[in-house]
Amino acid sequence: MALTEDHQDMRSNAELIGRDDVNDFEEIFHLVGAIEEDGMHVVEDNCAAMFTWDYEKGARPKLDKLYEKAKKSQWNGSTDLAWDTNVDQEKIAHQAYLDGATGPLANPDLDLSGTPMATWGETEWVEINMQYQNWMLSQFMHGEQGALLCTAKIVETVPWIDAKYYAATQVMDEARHVEVFSRYLDTKLSGHYQMNGHLGLLLDDIVADSRWDMTYLGMQIMVEGLALAAFGFMAQTTPEPLLQQLLRYVMADEARHVAFGVLSLQEIYSDMTHAEIRERQEFAFEAAIRMRDRMQGQEVWDRMGVSPAAAAKIAEQDVTRVDFQSLLFGKIVPNCRKLGLLDAGDGWLREKFTEMGIIQFEHFEDTEAEVQAQAEGSPAERDAAGIL
Ligand SMILES: [Fe+2]
Ligand SMILES: [Fe+2]
Repeated sequence: MALTEDHQDMRSNAELIGRDDVNDFEEIFHLVGAIEEDGMHVVEDNCAAMFTWDYEKGARPKLDKLYEKAKKSQWNGSTDLAWDTNVDQEKIAHQAYLDGATGPLANPDLDLSGTPMATWGETEWVEINMQYQNWMLSQFMHGEQGALLCTAKIVETVPWIDAKYYAATQVMDEARHVEVFSRYLDTKLSGHYQMNGHLGLLLDDIVADSRWDMTYLGMQIMVEGLALAAFGFMAQTTPEPLLQQLLRYVMADEARHVAFGVLSLQEIYSDMTHAEIRERQEFAFEAAIRMRDRMQGQEVWDRMGVSPAAAAKIAEQDVTRVDFQSLLFGKIVPNCRKLGLLDAGDGWLREKFTEMGIIQFEHFEDTEAEVQAQAEGSPAERDAAGIL
């Protein structure tokens, strides 16, 4: 045990995330998402399917309660959303430009002299606003498919009947999320993007890990925690009513999913050794770095003919954007704290999150409390009753 711990204490950034300097842009942009010729991507999921003969429903009362809530919270992506809404993406992107939006950058007052963007006018900034939206929604859609696959895997691998039941409701939720993001992209926006390489790497790692609790940590805590925050920001900032509605409905589900992760992991982490917990801390750090790398939006810059590394150097100076990016971790950090991951062992993850500039969110509301505060019933019913 001591040997393992010593070895783990020495694991470097290069071993954990493939580079020594977390801010090495050349290394970050070296990774490009693959376009598979046959339109499929195959990952071995290395899992053992687990039957249980203990059918006692409610043996884990909190999971049981969440399952009952999930059954009453279903909505229909085909009929509950206002798909007949007319969406003029270019008009919205133009208004955003007039309001100071600059695609993946957040501050319209940056000094761009000497960069390719110095000569940009209205046409290019409106175009990048549209491309950025296409890119964001495409990444949401790919991430949702990752959640669909991971949750189906949890149904197989988790040993507890209450968790299998709950995960089955989440499979249906995720199918609906893929469906509605895909439909919005196809019918309301102006193009698709392949999966970002960093997001792809993370999803592959989550799917390939044979340990069922790692699926939860990667997906429910990290990916879905970030998604919940990102959907919330987009819902607050978009003026488009259909997208607002779609995001509000998806978020009502996502809050439950994150709570499912916290509830399940609390139980299993309490029996783990220091070395096992350290591996979970390292995985949480790797996931946080992958998600931060993906936010650079490198495919958008590529499509606009700008080197992503040049754009990243400007983005780095953009204090508004740096603040915004760290806020996206506002759901993840309190949940890691609740799971005991921040301070376990020698507080390794607390140190890493401090270096990343995200530790200040540790006392934000955790997601279990958020779900308990949620009104009963589906978002569509609440909408109809005027209470969402
Ligand atoms: Fe989802
Ligand atoms: Fe989800």
